[in-house]
Amino acid sequence: VIAYTTLTAGVFTLRPPHFSDAEDALATLTDPATAQWNPTPSVTDLASAQRWLERLGDWSDGKHATFSIVDPDGRYTGSVSLHHIVLDPGHIEQGNADIGYRVAPWARNAGVATHAVDTVTAWAFERLGVQRIQLFHAVANEASCRVATKAGYQLEGVLRSSSVYGDGRRYSDHLHARLVTD
Ligand SMILES: CC(C)(COP(=O)(O)OP(=O)(O)OC[C@H]1O[C@@H](n2cnc3c(N)ncnc32)[C@H](O)[C@@H]1OP(=O)(O)O)[C@@H](O)C(=O)NCCC(=O)NCCS
Repeated sequence: VIAYTTLTAGVFTLRPPHFSDAEDALATLTDPATAQWNPTPSVTDLASAQRWLERLGDWSDGKHATFSIVDPDGRYTGSVSLHHIVLDPGHIEQGNADIGYRVAPWARNAGVATHAVDTVTAWAFERLGVQRIQLFHAVANEASCRVATKAGYQLEGVLRSSSVYGDGRRYSDHLHARLVTD
């Protein structure tokens, strides 16, 4: 079980998602760049955005910890999700997790994703005992590659034709990872 946690990333707060984030989360998820590189086709209106937030706000399976990034005015500004968390002793993937992120279109190119990813990474290493976090993004998504590199995630390789993104086409992905020992 992962205890619900609130973190600070500069002037931003990272806290579990809440249904009151719905209006700004809906605008973020339906933004064309998010719909392409981080598609969430189940979210189409306020009610489905609220259901999505409630689901991500439930950390009880111990396999994910999703944070809403909230600006100083309390406004939803994006999400960072640590998922595929494996903590079971004896599991071959023990100590591994994946990370993903999206930032609201009105808050981009100001370092928000980088700072939030770095903050969640430090928390996962220090508090959860995670030792390796993987980050996947389409090679074509250059902004995401910048976030990965700036947050200290080394490029480990290219996964050929590995994901179907929002436009329904297959793309190759970069695999980046950060180790607790980096
Ligand atoms: C990718 C995303 C999360 C970045 O969030 P952000 O808060 O703007 O990220 P940062 O400000 O920390 O860094 C963005 C970097 O990308 C660069 N960038 C932005 N658009 C770019 C483009 N079209 N081509 C190349 N670089 C680009 C910025 O210049 C910046 O790099 P710099 O600091 O070296 O100048 C945001 O654009 C987003 O949500 N996109 C849609 C969903 C998505 O792609 N999610 C990730 C899926 S893996």
